[in-house]
Amino acid sequence: MSLAVLSVASEAVPLVKTGGLADVAGALPGAVAPHGVAMTTLLPGYPSVLKGIGKARALHQWDALLGEPARLLAASLSGHPLLVLDAPALFGREGGPYGDPRGKDWADNWRRFAALGRAAADLVGGAVKGREFDVLHAHDWQAALAIGYQRFAPVPGGKSVPTVITIHNMAFQGVFPAEVFPQLGLPRAAWSIDGVESYGGVGFLKTGLQSASMITTVSPTYAAEIRSPEFGMGLDGLIVSRGDRVMGILNGIDTTEWNPAADPALAQAFTARSLARRKANKRALESEFGLASDDGPLFVVISRLTWQKGMDVLPEVLDHLVGNGARLALLGSGDAAIEAAFHAGAARHPGRIGLRFGYDEALSHLMQGGGDAILIPSRFEPCGLTQLYGLAYGCVPVVARTGGLADTVIDANVAALDAGAATGIQFSGVDYAGLAGAIGRTVALYRQGKAWRRIQQSGMAADFSWATSGKVYADLYARLVAEVR
Ligand code: ADP
Ligand code: GLC
Repeated sequence: MSLAVLSVASEAVPLVKTGGLADVAGALPGAVAPHGVAMTTLLPGYPSVLKGIGKARALHQWDALLGEPARLLAASLSGHPLLVLDAPALFGREGGPYGDPRGKDWADNWRRFAALGRAAADLVGGAVKGREFDVLHAHDWQAALAIGYQRFAPVPGGKSVPTVITIHNMAFQGVFPAEVFPQLGLPRAAWSIDGVESYGGVGFLKTGLQSASMITTVSPTYAAEIRSPEFGMGLDGLIVSRGDRVMGILNGIDTTEWNPAADPALAQAFTARSLARRKANKRALESEFGLASDDGPLFVVISRLTWQKGMDVLPEVLDHLVGNGARLALLGSGDAAIEAAFHAGAARHPGRIGLRFGYDEALSHLMQGGGDAILIPSRFEPCGLTQLYGLAYGCVPVVARTGGLADTVIDANVAALDAGAATGIQFSGVDYAGLAGAIGRTVALYRQGKAWRRIQQSGMAADFSWATSGKVYADLYARLVAEVR
């Protein structure tokens, strides 16, 4: 028997992406399909999404969804069913999915994503004939209110389905002033600590965590970390209270998009047996970033430039990195102060530090294929995908020991090196000493040649495809459906 799951997200490749959530939401339907799950994705109708789907059929309409007219369009996402919430007053704006072109959050984000949640609750309740669902799967705060609507304001006479909420990042909780509550279309009973109320405001993520049948996050270590105040960010008590209803399921990567043997973005394709071919990619990177050409270690960074990613600390370590004979190519966007700090470092080291600010998917592939090591000094990392791409491309991950980074990279300690199991370098302490130490260890290993190649090859042999996690999600849906039958 096949299970029908509605996956609700605020981004999904290839239509709209600001980070790893898009990779995961875009890949999930294909990951669970081999295990008897028919997944439909629901996305907001941002301009890029409407453009990407082309001409689409309208399946349903609302005269006033959170006060605005809206339609539901039927399309497809990489061969799987897609529903798009077309509400021009809410989503028809130039800029990003969450903010204006200058990066400032839209003031009515509560209304925009409440509408997404309301539409999802209507769908699983049975509002659209021919589209029935067995499970609702909401991603992050933007989709979380769907679970609150199903619980507190269900479709009259409609169906109620088991729900899963996935936390991709606990730092973003969607908390809004209490004044918006009366406009959400929820009954007064929902305004309680057991409902949407969160420290005096309306908490979208909190609502989902409170009421979901199951909470998942994207790595086992992060699932344990969010039980503590440091990582739980105010919701740790709630996570602990949900007990065994919280689990970590590691993200996979799309191994067709990310395959070094057949990647059109590379100057030269390669496999674990032809690592010498990576050199052409390294040369291409040097010229892209205006770096001096040599065979010394080339670090890369592909990241949002934020505190989470430790990008405020990295500029302090640039002199040390260059002093060790290494170079750095950085692709990133985010905080203006962090950009300025990198600029200052690059000015001190012409030809050794190359910077590219902005978003460039193709360049990110070339960097994984030509860089020697990818630096990921995150303070917290629910899963992280760039270390997984690094492993697949022989670009050795150098990671802070946290969250999904701790779960996916095997540190090159003596025992792991002896066993031939090491795939990267882990370090503790996202500060000058921690990063400088990790860079020093990496450069020393790189200079050993043979041991370094072994690390690259072990990483390339590791399987981080969706095969395992796709089945774990499918089993979870089946278990939740069996519980309510
Ligand atoms: P997060 O979602 O927290 O930003 P992840 O590691 O899970 O972290 O996912 C980041 C995704 O965004 C990866 O696919 C990465 O390659 C991509 N990415 C990040 N910054 C850039 C950039 N400036 N240009 C291109 N791709 C980027
Ligand atoms: C978030 C997290 C990242 C994770 C991604 C996809 O953006 O910061 O660690 O890989 O979601 O789950």
